[in-house]
Amino acid sequence: MSTIAEPINLFDFEAIAKERLPTEEYDYIAGGATDEISVDRNRRAYASWAFRPRVLRNVSALDLSTTVLGTKVNLPVLIAPCGGHKKAHPEGEFATFRAAAASGTIFAVSANASADFAELAKAASGRLWLQLYPFRDREITKDWLKRAKDLGYEAICVTLDSQWPPKRERNIRNNYGNRRGVNFSNRGAENSQRRGAHPGGGDPAATWKDLEWIKSIAGLPVVAKGIMTGEDVELCTEAGADGVIVSNHGGRHLDNTLATVEVLSEAVAAAKGKLEIYLDGGIRRGADVVKAIALGAKAVFIGRPLFWGLAVDGEKGVIRVLDILREEIEITMAKCGRPTVASIDATTIVKAPPL
Ligand SMILES: Cc1cc2nc3c(=O)[nH]c(=O)nc-3n(C[C@H](O)[C@H](O)[C@H](O)COP(=O)(O)O)c2cc1C
Repeated sequence: MSTIAEPINLFDFEAIAKERLPTEEYDYIAGGATDEISVDRNRRAYASWAFRPRVLRNVSALDLSTTVLGTKVNLPVLIAPCGGHKKAHPEGEFATFRAAAASGTIFAVSANASADFAELAKAASGRLWLQLYPFRDREITKDWLKRAKDLGYEAICVTLDSQWPPKRERNIRNNYGNRRGVNFSNRGAENSQRRGAHPGGGDPAATWKDLEWIKSIAGLPVVAKGIMTGEDVELCTEAGADGVIVSNHGGRHLDNTLATVEVLSEAVAAAKGKLEIYLDGGIRRGADVVKAIALGAKAVFIGRPLFWGLAVDGEKGVIRVLDILREEIEITMAKCGRPTVASIDATTIVKAPPL
C-alpha cells in the first residue's frame, strides 16, 4: 500500500505510480540520457525565476483559456506526444484522449503510440495532433499525413531531436526492450535500416529540406518539436513551420543541455512573432506554467506526469493531474494579479539570484 493516501500534487502522483509500475517500466518513463543532468536541470531551472506578486487588481474571475494555432484550449497545458501509454494503464491512449477532451485541451499522439491513431480519432470528441518523424521512407510520411488530415487531426508535430538513438543507462541495466508502436506496418521497419536510426525515430540523414517538404504536403499546421537554439527557430520559420516546441525531449536524448526554460527567451526572440513558441520539460507545478508563459511561451506540454496519472487512476488520474495544474495556475495568476493568460507578461517574474 502506498504511504500517500490521496495525491495532492504531481510528485505524489509519481511516487504512487513508482510503487505500482514494474521497475523497468517506471525507469523507462522517468529516466533520461546518460547522467540525467538535463532531466534534473529541466526541473530545477524554474527556481531561477521568482514571481513579482501584485495586489488589488480584481482577480475575482480568472480565465485560463488561451489559443494554440488560433484555436481555443481551456488551459495552457497540452499533452506531449509520448509513446506507449499502455505501459501505464491498459486503456492507454484512449484514457488519455478522453481525459484531454474532458479537460478541454489537446492531445498530441505519438508516432510510437500503443493505439492505432485512426481508432483513437473515433474514441472521443476531443482534439488531436499527430506526431511523426522525418521518416526514412517518405511514403510512410505521405500516408500518415493524408490519413491524419482525413481523420480530423488538427496539426502535425514533427519531432526533430530523435535522429540518433540516445544512451539510456537505466534501460541498458534493466535489459529493457521497447517495442515498436502499433502504427508502424512491416514496411515501417525500413525506417530503422540506416545506421543510427532506431525503431520509432527519425532518419539520421534528414535535413531542413525534409521539414520543408512535410510542410508543403501536410495541408495542416506543422509544429517542430525538439528545438533548443535561436538558430534552429529561424530555420523552422524559413521551412514554413507554424509553431516550435522548445524541448530537449525531457532530457531523454542529448544530456548536458541547458534546461528548456533557460533557452526559451532565445527561442522567443528568434521567432520574431512569426510562429508560436511552446515549451515542454519538467513542468510539474502551476508556477512552472506561469513562468514559461511570462517568458513568452504560448502554452506548455506535459510528458511524464500523464503516465503517473494513468498509472494511478487511468482517465480519472490524467484528469486529476490536469486539474491540479489548473488549480496551481489559478493560485499563481490570482496572486500575481494576472486574471487572464494574456496578462501574464515579462513583468510577472524576475530572475532570482542564486541563493
Ligand atoms: C515515456 C516517454 C515517451 C516519449 N515518447 C516520445 C515520442 O514518441 N515522441 C516524442 O516526440 N517525444 C516523446 N517523449 C518526449 C515528450 O514528448 C516530452 O518532450 C517530454 O516528456 C517532456 O518532458 P517531461 O516528461 O519532463 O514533461 C516521450 C517522453 C516520455 C517520458
